Amino acid sequence: MTESAPKAKYRSDYQSPSHFISDVNLTFDLHERDTHVTAISTVKQNTDSTTLLLDGEGIELVAVHIDGQVWSDYKQLKSGLELSNLPAEFELKIENKISPITNSALEGLYLSDGAYCTQCEAEGFRRITYFLDRPDVLATYTTKVIADKVAFPHLLSNGNKVEEGEVDTQRHYVIWQDPHPKPCYLFALVAGDFDVLRDQYTTRSGRKVALEIFVDKGNLDRANHAMVSLINSMKWDEERFGLEYDLDIYMIVAVDFFNMGAMENKGLNVFNSKFVLANEKTATDTDYLGIEAVIGHEYFHNWTGNRVTCRDWFQLSLKEGLTVFRDQEFSSDLGSRAVNRINNVRIIRGPQFAEDASPMSHPIRPEKVIEMNNFYTLTVYEKGSEVIRMMHTLLGEGKFQAGMKLYFDRHDGTAATCEDFVCAMEDASGIDLTQFRRWYSQSGTPTVSVKANYDENTKTYALTLTQRTKPTQDQQEKQALHIPFDVELYDSEGNVLELQCNGGAVGNVLSFTQQEQTFVFENVDTEPTPSMLREFSAPVKLEFDYSDEQLAFLMIHARNEFAKWDAGQMLLAKYVKSNVEAVLNQQAITLPELVIDAFRGVILNDQLDPAFIAEVLSLPSFNEVAGWYDIVSVDAVCDVLKGVKHIIATELKDELSATYHSLGQQDYSVNHSAIAKRALRNLCLQYLATMEEYASLVSNQFDVANNMTDTIAAMVAANSSSLPIRQNLMDRYSDDWSHDGLVMDKWFALQGSNPSDNALENVKACMSHTAFSLSNPNRVRSLIGSFLNMNPRRFHDKSGSGYQFAGEILRSLNESNPQVASRLIDPLLKFKKYDAKRQALIIVELEKLKAMDNLANDLYEKVTKALDA
Ligand code: TRP
Ligand code: ZN
Repeated sequence: MTESAPKAKYRSDYQSPSHFISDVNLTFDLHERDTHVTAISTVKQNTDSTTLLLDGEGIELVAVHIDGQVWSDYKQLKSGLELSNLPAEFELKIENKISPITNSALEGLYLSDGAYCTQCEAEGFRRITYFLDRPDVLATYTTKVIADKVAFPHLLSNGNKVEEGEVDTQRHYVIWQDPHPKPCYLFALVAGDFDVLRDQYTTRSGRKVALEIFVDKGNLDRANHAMVSLINSMKWDEERFGLEYDLDIYMIVAVDFFNMGAMENKGLNVFNSKFVLANEKTATDTDYLGIEAVIGHEYFHNWTGNRVTCRDWFQLSLKEGLTVFRDQEFSSDLGSRAVNRINNVRIIRGPQFAEDASPMSHPIRPEKVIEMNNFYTLTVYEKGSEVIRMMHTLLGEGKFQAGMKLYFDRHDGTAATCEDFVCAMEDASGIDLTQFRRWYSQSGTPTVSVKANYDENTKTYALTLTQRTKPTQDQQEKQALHIPFDVELYDSEGNVLELQCNGGAVGNVLSFTQQEQTFVFENVDTEPTPSMLREFSAPVKLEFDYSDEQLAFLMIHARNEFAKWDAGQMLLAKYVKSNVEAVLNQQAITLPELVIDAFRGVILNDQLDPAFIAEVLSLPSFNEVAGWYDIVSVDAVCDVLKGVKHIIATELKDELSATYHSLGQQDYSVNHSAIAKRALRNLCLQYLATMEEYASLVSNQFDVANNMTDTIAAMVAANSSSLPIRQNLMDRYSDDWSHDGLVMDKWFALQGSNPSDNALENVKACMSHTAFSLSNPNRVRSLIGSFLNMNPRRFHDKSGSGYQFAGEILRSLNESNPQVASRLIDPLLKFKKYDAKRQALIIVELEKLKAMDNLANDLYEKVTKALDA
């Protein structure tokens, strides 16, 4: 452990900065080992302090000048620079040196495959120069970039290019000016040799915007989908939110070394190449949809994040929850709303609920943070989006948009808080959100239990709802939340009933605000079937004692696709649970005829979207099932998921096979209808592959595939069903693609999730593959991340070999890239979910990490929380 334990920051301690910086002039003289940075800032005192504490890490200070004079009244601290006895207003000039080539943490200024690039969010700018590295200090930036002409023909930064020229025969420079005041986390610089895809967009009000996507040489043929997605994003934001772009140029750079998905730097987004590069030979349909979503997400940040930014990092969900909501709506408006909703809900019910129940549990607006990078979480992003969605449900689109407009009227050009956002929604709608605000401060997942009572005499149907949130590690006391609870009632013919309460018609969204509350519906002639938490109207667990018949009925009669899917999931959940019991009692895995018939009915229904059918037939993941238990029986759950899949496959063999063959391979195109057909065809293949007789179907699909979606589907089938042809397919793929890390990531992910008993040995061997590198986060996530998260049987092997392997990797990444290490460690934090023997083995690894004398703050925060639990 480090000498002095890292210090936590608390939301309640917020204070405005001692000084503001209104304007910055930066010069970068780029050299691998010693880049010279000059920062000239216009500084003004904001409180009565004449001392200014600037943040800085790993910086070699060269000189400090105040108003043109050498300044010696300063102290260099471990993580900053303290300047004293300052005038009220002054020009501060700092010169310092940094070493991009030795920066493996990928934060600040670093080299990605020979190109310079920056990542400043959340607190990376302090690795570039001494600065007030906090989001409530907004300045305009002028940036001069100087580098070698031949190696770095493109020199980029935020805003507009205002000057370029030569320094000498070898070096050139470009000057950029960004007119929009911004916090330093939105600063970006890129220098490299790229191919550029160019296009143009004219905004609604007539502004011509140059669009430029920079990719590694030779990758131009993989940038088209990103460009189309960008143009679609710009158009959608004008149409749905009335928001236009505000500069004359929008640049996107794709880099191979990146800790996250992408970054919304003003006018100069930096992207993980995974979310830019795609063609049919290299990318799957899922990749294409991911690119659309992330391009949209970063573009939408221009208003929700950049024009209005966060006052402090505790407010992160202000921009992230809202921007995820916006990108989800974008994808839903362009593609299938139901399929998008289903996939978003799977993320909440799986990994987000798991996070809520873990030692890292925190509200969407955290109260206490040691390392900010640890709070770019499913809770802040995905649950944050659900919280915005609930406001949208409560207000309706019209009032919600009025709230957005008021929010921008009030806060454009400033750093705001979550409270500011809720106030705008409240003031624009007239709807009281007092209790609703608890969603921002309360962590954990509420469970809503429902009891129904039909009274034949009074013709009333009563739903009694109770809500309860279990204590979480960060917060013992829980309060009742304002839960929008969307309900529909169906009569026995499947007609939807108009809801009536207290003599009048009511809408479908009940405001459930008490610990326990009963809603009585009148004029209900016969006992109805309720469809509840429709559209997943709140991020809660629903408990209701549905009969199999009711669920099968809803799968047919529910008016909306999401509700049909959800009924199917509840039916599966019942039998996954009962079969886990059975397996633990050494009994066979079985599924009743009714369940099989319900799913048969879905496959055979040609009125349904094939993509939707594929979702209905997809079993819950191991991780989602694990969330249903306090202590999960790893092997039993794995056996049941495998067994249930096999029963459905054998029982529905004819239908699956007929469907597979009816959806023959088409010429490849990326549109919803084509994607949907491939999704269903490949879903059928996954089931069929569980039966030996269909192994040739899998290898045949691999042989003739004309696109990566179908190639990967064949490999996934061979991998998860451990078919004899698996090795052959894997070898052929690696022969074709070993030169391309991004394409190999799919192969690495299959190695990681390989259920066979030598998986760990294979994973270790893969680490010597020419395409693998522990310094590339994408490779690490594909191979190691999938082993830890997608291979429950082998990762949780009773010997502890999986845990020891994870420990080794974490100790190595702790030094080179703590951000990546900190994401990788999450499954180990949840040790309480496993039996005592496994717990003990995991704790050994956590203790080893804790004992390291250079443990990074990122891991320190998580390891200590987990061990304190
Ligand atoms: N703001 C980015 C997004 O939501 C997130 C991000 C990108 C990030 N890179 C990062 C966060 C590095 C922390 C560290 O798109
Ligand atoms: Zn974001």
